[in-house]
Amino acid sequence: MPELDLERVLHGLKTGFIGRSLVYRPSVASTMDLARQEAETGAPEGTVVLADAQTAGRGRYGRVFISPAGVNLYPSIVLRPETEHLRWTGIIAALAVARATEEVTGLHPRIKWPNDVLLERKKYCGILVETDFTGTRPQYSIVGIGVDVNVDVSDYEEIAEIATSPAMLLGHPVSREDLLAALLNHLERLYLQVRRGESVLDEWRARMDTLGKEIRARTPHTVEEGTAEDVDADGNLILRRADGSTVTIIAGEVTLRA
Ligand code: BTN
Repeated sequence: MPELDLERVLHGLKTGFIGRSLVYRPSVASTMDLARQEAETGAPEGTVVLADAQTAGRGRYGRVFISPAGVNLYPSIVLRPETEHLRWTGIIAALAVARATEEVTGLHPRIKWPNDVLLERKKYCGILVETDFTGTRPQYSIVGIGVDVNVDVSDYEEIAEIATSPAMLLGHPVSREDLLAALLNHLERLYLQVRRGESVLDEWRARMDTLGKEIRARTPHTVEEGTAEDVDADGNLILRRADGSTVTIIAGEVTLRA
């Protein structure tokens, strides 16, 4: 399996700061941890930490993120968002992945609230945002983006039924370099948009697969069931229960009900 061609990534970059500092390792435990070290030692905003493989890739809720060499993308990006924009960091990452996938492959991804990216109802990208809150304001966020690009998920029993990759759907490999460059280009555009106070809500809502579906939402405190009705201006999910009442889900994990 070829390693990532960083020259080709740089060639496709049209950004001012995201990806202009690039840290690459053939293999790391998790790019999240290396990106945190970089952030702690003053890495500029937009630093991207990349690895061809991760030996301890992690997802939300302490899950393992399967990270084989040579097939996928595992960037972690150092951002320093304002507190009021923190909420949008994972959302714009999902939008950037969706836009980049569309641009490079012609496929049309959807988003599962809040920021899983899906193709044909199966997940091919997960996003993990970890923010350092020491001091009076958040110091930095690490935005970890795991994209299944060329992996054949049937090789991995744990995800064989629930995940997919663009290459599996297209029947041919996809350039990881072109996808990564497009992803970083879109991420910077969206990040600047949010920083200017412009909403990304309309695009996110339009790409949302969850709305109108019967779902179960697990929050840190409860499990709620009902119809996913809408997202509000803050990105929260509005769920209508069977008794007609509504509940606002701020954070949690959504699954479809059979
Ligand atoms: C999820 O689906 O729960 C989130 C998955 C996030 C995976 C990415 S891969 C790059 C970065 N490094 C990690 O260890 N995790 C994130």
